[in-house]
Amino acid sequence: MKVLVAGGAGYIGSHCVRQLLAAGHEPVVLDNFVYGHRAAVPAGVRVHEASLADPAALDRVFAAEKIGVVMHFAAYCYVGESVAEPLKYYLNNAAATYTLLDAMRRNEVKKFVFSSTCATFGVPAKLPLTEDMPQAPINPYGQTKLDVENALRALARAGEFSFAAFRYFNAAGAAEDGSIGEDHEPETHLIPLAIGAALGHRPPLQIFGTDYPTPDGTCLRDYVHIDDLSRAHIAVFDRLAQPGAALFYNLGTGAPTSVREIIAAVEKISGLSVPVKFGPRRAGDPPALFADSTKAQTELGWKPKFQTIGSIVETAWRWHSAHPQGYADR
Ligand code: UFG
Repeated sequence: MKVLVAGGAGYIGSHCVRQLLAAGHEPVVLDNFVYGHRAAVPAGVRVHEASLADPAALDRVFAAEKIGVVMHFAAYCYVGESVAEPLKYYLNNAAATYTLLDAMRRNEVKKFVFSSTCATFGVPAKLPLTEDMPQAPINPYGQTKLDVENALRALARAGEFSFAAFRYFNAAGAAEDGSIGEDHEPETHLIPLAIGAALGHRPPLQIFGTDYPTPDGTCLRDYVHIDDLSRAHIAVFDRLAQPGAALFYNLGTGAPTSVREIIAAVEKISGLSVPVKFGPRRAGDPPALFADSTKAQTELGWKPKFQTIGSIVETAWRWHSAHPQGYADR
């Protein structure tokens, strides 16, 4: 199947492109390269440089390619920034997505896979999180993802359109062969910052809060390998054949891991120590988030290959230690 991967040069999109190739599909990348990296796109994959907010450019892409499914990863992903600059998120993560959906409608492309987030749940009343739990985002990042989820529901109800929305927990790790990995600028995510601190390329890691009501006082998250996430996106294709399908899946391993446990895993794998500083809680961080992914496992036959935090951190270590400056080193 020919798959348009919007944001295919970004962290999650680029890993998905490689998994699509491995599964025998034909990915085509759409990216504006604001955050994406050309080196993250495999040779031979066609790239359209365009903005999702440009309807004429989208029409040209759909006219040039016979697209079966659109996968959409082209979003801004900084929770803190979304609080400081909400319009940036409403315009890019919500409005530009509606422009993309409208271009799909004009060009009669009816299958959509959406990159959503556990941030749509806000601070959960109960854990682990199942798909049907109340969604009450606490920042514009989560809100704009939920807004798109709701637009998708309406579209599926209205006609032939079908979609799957995946709520990722903490996407982590890198390709097993070390060829591509995480490279955000600025970087705010725990694992790359901890590895960078161990390597001496970044300042000491600041632990945001040690007084949470968790076993070791630091936040619990559900880290899930990027290639496992990608495989779920492909496993859902058969179900999108059903017009009106409106599918939601939480994707995580279900294992809560604390900030201190991540640091211990980085130290074990690298043989280095991670210099740390203790800081206050970061605004907007829920104490604990982890997934119940039974639905994805039952309906899609999805089973994370990377079940332990050590195996996930190992792939991240391979990428960051070989490319401490990310794609600038390639
Ligand atoms: N953390 C630190 N120090 C740091 C960075 C992070 O202690 O320098 C802690 C955070 O407080 C949090 C954990 O490490 O407890 C993980 O933080 P990340 O920033 O790596 O990830 P988040 O859980 O904040 O964010 C992830 C995704 C977002 C998504 C969010 C949903 O990266 O895109 O989950 O809650 F919105």
